[in-house]
Amino acid sequence: MCGIVGYVGGRPALSIVLDGLRRLEYRGYDSAGVAIVDDGTVLTEKKAGKLANLEKALAERNGDNIASGTTAIGHTRWATHGGPTDRNAHPHLSADGRVAVIHNGIIENFSRLRAELEATGVEFASDTDTECAAHLLAAEMRTLREAGAAAGPQLLADAMRRTVRRLEGAFTLLAVDVDVPDAVVAARRNSPLVVGRGVGENFLASDVSAFIEHTREAIELGQDQVVLITPAGIEITGFDGEPAEGKEFHIDWDAKAAEKGGYDYFMLKEIADQPDAIAETLLGRLSDRGEIILDEVRLTDQDLRDVDKVFIVACGTSYHAGMVAKYAIEHWTRIPCEVELASEFRYRDPILDRSTLVITISQSGETMDTLMALRHAKEQKARVLAICNTNGSTIPRESDAVLYTHGGPEIAVASTKAFLTQLVACYLIGLHLAQIRGVMYADEVAAVVEKLQSTPDSLRTLLGQMEDVRALARDLKTASTVLFIGRHVGYPVALEGALKLKELAYMHAEGFAAGELKHGPISLIDEGTPVVCVVPSPAGRGVMRDKVVSNIQEVRARGARTIVIAEEGDEGVRAYADHLIPVPSTPTLLAPLMTTVPLQILACEIAAARGLDVDQPRNLAKSVTVE
Ligand code: F6R
Repeated sequence: MCGIVGYVGGRPALSIVLDGLRRLEYRGYDSAGVAIVDDGTVLTEKKAGKLANLEKALAERNGDNIASGTTAIGHTRWATHGGPTDRNAHPHLSADGRVAVIHNGIIENFSRLRAELEATGVEFASDTDTECAAHLLAAEMRTLREAGAAAGPQLLADAMRRTVRRLEGAFTLLAVDVDVPDAVVAARRNSPLVVGRGVGENFLASDVSAFIEHTREAIELGQDQVVLITPAGIEITGFDGEPAEGKEFHIDWDAKAAEKGGYDYFMLKEIADQPDAIAETLLGRLSDRGEIILDEVRLTDQDLRDVDKVFIVACGTSYHAGMVAKYAIEHWTRIPCEVELASEFRYRDPILDRSTLVITISQSGETMDTLMALRHAKEQKARVLAICNTNGSTIPRESDAVLYTHGGPEIAVASTKAFLTQLVACYLIGLHLAQIRGVMYADEVAAVVEKLQSTPDSLRTLLGQMEDVRALARDLKTASTVLFIGRHVGYPVALEGALKLKELAYMHAEGFAAGELKHGPISLIDEGTPVVCVVPSPAGRGVMRDKVVSNIQEVRARGARTIVIAEEGDEGVRAYADHLIPVPSTPTLLAPLMTTVPLQILACEIAAARGLDVDQPRNLAKSVTVE
């Protein structure tokens, strides 16, 4: 997930693009760069780190026209392929320096394209997938010119269409060319891009917040479309060159709301982003041979075959993701798997050796408790695999293998999309281990991946049906305690629901394994106590679902007000539910991808109804770098 801005018009483009990038910094901030076309050259500047580093580098430049050109593209990066360094920052130039490209997304077939380009003598200047697009675009420009095509914006648009037809994956690409000073061309597949329509000037951006100061007239593009902007016009076609139309709309949000996509809080935006975040995490994970692809592997397949025990270490919400992972990893791989709170791990002297795989899960990649657990594991010679959302952070850097959750930056302190993408990453690692050890065949792995790939659509449906949950939240805002129960993977979901409510609404909330209630906690239940019950799917292990239904009856008999989260069509639970929240049907192990979402919304809306700061709850920090 990166931020992208493009401008063409009559005003100096640099300051407009930098302002836009500032508003998009929430999308990624590990490096930034710009390219400006002026006077027969493409001038670029790019720097690792926050936008301020780029601004400093630009301020130190003098003697060129970078501040006066009127056509520019700019990028703020959230690293996927290649670490967050100066050389991997965008824009990327073609070898002849004539074309500059910026990109959001992942070009899945980039290693094949790179090999092909290198075979023709192209030398790469970065480790990114994006650079392929710059070289391909320049080559297409040359081919079209040699075939007699007239120079100008149409040539650039034609070359872009020819280029994107060769790309697989998800991408928004923006490009400028030295010979086409008054045009920016862009292409979109499965990645965001909006056009801003001005007077004598036009804009492109990942979202409208980047240009809302200049125009409120925008155009939403469809899938697989190319758009060419010049000061005089906007021209949209399909990848095949057929004319197409975007959807025009007027932006009536204020600038602050625009950054949050029109939502009141970043947390709500991040909840709504979850289908896309899952899709990004899954992108490019299956090789042509049906094998799961990790991002970085400094281990051999044999090292992974030798693993005889798995520990998952993490904190807070990431720990809950680990609890879900245990069920999947043990079921698929048949390797014993323990989940440990990172802050406790090293103090109990765990038994670790070369055949132990320690999986760390961390959104930030900087959590000190998790980092210390990782270092302890390495001292004991265990292999360490990181699941992380932050490219280049300490935990993945110190690990033997990494799978990045490409969820994009999470701004709200309470973790939402990070959790769901961590679950996806855990499933992928479970499948990878099972495959490498010969416990699952490629077609069995592909079948699970296919189910995972259908979850973004199911989630979108679910997110569209949350009105009752919002109403319920307003009703629960004065409850003195809320209990959560679940069984199997529903148990960590119950813990996560309780954690969200505690941290956001400052209310007493507890999660329990449903079967444990009768061993003590059931005495907490009083007339009207809200109990949120996460019901397993009736399919597969129906026995588990029946047990939870019995537990619901037990709490109801003692006066509880039951809020039941159950699979659509499970009509049998209706009789025991004071409030029923149906979720789309999903295989049992993957169900937390659905059942967690109403709990996130419930906590967020209760906090809002209590007038609290949803995005920055008291006493908390996004990245906890102390033990
Ligand atoms: C809760 C939350 C925290 C984090 C925990 C670990 O909503 O966000 O519990 O999950 O502090 O953080 P990371 O994943 O960055 O290691």
